Amino acid sequence: MDIFLETERLVLRRFAESDLDLLVELDSDPEVMRHLTGRPTKRERIAQKVLPAILAGYERGLGTFAAHAKPGLEFLGWLELRPDDGRPAQVELGYRLRKSAWGSGYATEGARALVEYAFTRTATTKIHAETMAVNSASRRVMEKVGLRYESTFHEDWKHPLPGAEHGDVRYTLGRAEWYAASQRKNLQDLS
Ligand SMILES: CC(C)(COP(=O)(O)OP(=O)(O)OC[C@H]1O[C@@H](n2cnc3c(N)ncnc32)[C@H](O)[C@@H]1OP(=O)(O)O)[C@@H](O)C(=O)NCCC(=O)NCCS
Repeated sequence: MDIFLETERLVLRRFAESDLDLLVELDSDPEVMRHLTGRPTKRERIAQKVLPAILAGYERGLGTFAAHAKPGLEFLGWLELRPDDGRPAQVELGYRLRKSAWGSGYATEGARALVEYAFTRTATTKIHAETMAVNSASRRVMEKVGLRYESTFHEDWKHPLPGAEHGDVRYTLGRAEWYAASQRKNLQDLS
């Protein structure tokens, strides 16, 4: 297991070629895909596009990481920090977990660790995340890890998903802002 980092309850590791079935199973649940594409992702697409892109992404230091719950290491889904092609100091935060894992704080715990990693161990200066405005769980995770609402935007989708009329939202967090918030938290923890 090629471990990237660990938190109290999670192991985040790099994916491998042999993980095709895990990714196919994760994307096969229409509820998981509800605010993404609205339908399962085809196995061929994951084999030919999704997984190769994930594996190639590790060359840039960050990427998409399989999340496993301690102690039994059950596969929960993935969390990612995806470098922005045009702006090397910017990364996009994302997450996708099996429905059985929802509601236990796993996305927040993993995302917090990735944000800390990016700001303390890489040259990242800004993290952003986007989701459908109606994806309340995803927005809540963004808020809990410290990202702030920046804007709502509307794209011209060919086959809009239910709720698309409310648009997509963008949240951001800068490194200086993150440091200031973590120092405030450290002081609170000391007092
Ligand atoms: C988004 C997702 C990763 C969240 O994972 P999770 O592990 O359940 O998240 P957490 O438990 O850390 O936090 C979820 C928060 O959202 C809240 N929440 C969940 N559903 C909600 C809803 N329908 N309305 C409002 N808040 C909601 C939870 O109460 C929790 O907040 P709290 O701790 O203040 O109570 C998970 O729902 C998922 O995989 N969804 C499908 C894929 C997806 O939509 N990914 C995001 C695309 S950008």
